[in-house]
Amino acid sequence: MLDRSSNAPDLPPEIARRRTFAIISHPDAGKTTLTEKFLLYGGAIQMAGQVRAKGEARRTRSDFMKMEQDRGISVSASAMSFDFGAHRFNLVDTPGHSDFSEDTYRTLTAVDAAIMVIDGAKGVESQTQKLFEVCRLRDLPILTFCNKMDRESRDTFDIIDEIQENLAIDVTPASWPIGMGRDFLGCYDLLRDRLELMDRADRNKIAESIRIDGLDDPKLAEHIPEAQLEQLKEEIEMARELLPTLDPQAVLDGTMTPIWFGSAINSFGVKELMDGIATYGPEPQPQSAEPRQIAPDEKKVAGFVFKVQANMDPKHRDRVAFLRMASGHFKRGMKLTHVRSKKPMAISNPVLFLASDRELAEEAWAGDIIGIPNHGQLRIGDTLTEGEALRVTGIPSFAPELLQGVRAGDPMKAKHLEKALMQFAEEGAAKVFKPMIGSGFIVGVVGALQFEVLASRIELEYGLPVRFEPSQFTSARWVHGPKAEVDKFTNVNKGHIATDNDGDTVYLTRLQWDIDRVERDYPELKLSATKEMM
Ligand code: G4P
Repeated sequence: MLDRSSNAPDLPPEIARRRTFAIISHPDAGKTTLTEKFLLYGGAIQMAGQVRAKGEARRTRSDFMKMEQDRGISVSASAMSFDFGAHRFNLVDTPGHSDFSEDTYRTLTAVDAAIMVIDGAKGVESQTQKLFEVCRLRDLPILTFCNKMDRESRDTFDIIDEIQENLAIDVTPASWPIGMGRDFLGCYDLLRDRLELMDRADRNKIAESIRIDGLDDPKLAEHIPEAQLEQLKEEIEMARELLPTLDPQAVLDGTMTPIWFGSAINSFGVKELMDGIATYGPEPQPQSAEPRQIAPDEKKVAGFVFKVQANMDPKHRDRVAFLRMASGHFKRGMKLTHVRSKKPMAISNPVLFLASDRELAEEAWAGDIIGIPNHGQLRIGDTLTEGEALRVTGIPSFAPELLQGVRAGDPMKAKHLEKALMQFAEEGAAKVFKPMIGSGFIVGVVGALQFEVLASRIELEYGLPVRFEPSQFTSARWVHGPKAEVDKFTNVNKGHIATDNDGDTVYLTRLQWDIDRVERDYPELKLSATKEMM
């Protein structure tokens, strides 16, 4: 567990001003729209609407494939950096589709906080709940944005109650909505005693902000009709009585979430949320590693790969490894040690993703995300340092939940298929197992859509039509234990044994009963559903 101390005053200012976060939400809650508005206020784009076409809002296969063909752009959407006031925001995108939960999980290892977006009419939906639980595993601080308040939405207390109950986290209102749907006027900013009024005429306009001297200020009546004002006062009085007040340390500990209400499409409430991220969001945090934790203000540079994206340009087979900087001040051209191979690597063309463009990164600080083009040396989970043999921990690989055999349409192309599969395995897009007996491969994924995406990518990027077909196996477990015991076990179970793309031994089966039996018959062996990537 990380020691998440309060925002320490002694971090160097360049590091202290960084906020690295992801947005978690259920499809359709408004993640893409909110991202767009973030970039608009961050000055990274000139006009809202630029992200939408390129964004992650793909719920169908065809949307996905279109994005895949446009990989350069989708990659720049994977990590975006922009300035907001005195702060540097690094927004790391989480894949939208539930089939990509493993990728999402790893993405969440690279951020210090998450913004949870919920739809005011729908409350906490299934995908939000799942992603929240992943954040909870790491005690990530969470800031909540309740979107679409311009539509009929649920009662404010109901929404807050639902979050508190379903997610077991304290919720404190940072703003309070005035009316809803057609009658939605704006919000009362509870943290700064201001009235924020939404402009329905101009969706890109920052809300009018009126300083108010408490709820008894007569100015309120100039802007809010009497009935709504009465209701607002009553609700706020009740909220102040019943709901916890904002405790910045509890937010950093991940036990309390402040909630802002707004309407992303109307640019409303977004700026207040961004101010909230700057004020209450965590600075770059220490990173768990072996044999010791890495502190962000260490002089020496360290970072880890949490995502690899391959074949951005199909003609060049290049890959970009996304590196989260854990410590230090990186400068372009630096030589870092690739800890797994112990080899030096000169990082001469690192890229920084600024909204729709990518730029050479001349420098980067702890908290930043840089892309490193490479030819396959860098894998998910790899650590880069200035020489020390540190290994970042906590980036797991999960046993796939669906297994299928795969065959090249043209049997002469088996070698090409192997190459393509290894490529995707290293990218973390699938698990590839080579059975001990027989030819061919078994591919494992977390969600069924991934098979379709893989088949399309292999065809698109390698010109190789492939067929996925049912496999006799449904589960895969990594086999750990003393070598003699592993050898004894594999010798009598050859038909069930395979190796993964790292050469590690895997037991394939269709029954949980088999797994239990092995554990009973071979007490020294451990069959595990996760493996740390290294
Ligand atoms: P996602 O990335 O979380 O999946 O959501 P996205 O931003 O794509 O938003 C989903 C839909 O909700 C979009 O409508 C978007 O315009 C709408 N939306 C986002 N924020 C608000 C809001 O504050 N109020 C209202 N009323 N709607 C909002 P769509 O019809 O699917 O797409 P489009 O035709 O508007 O592009």
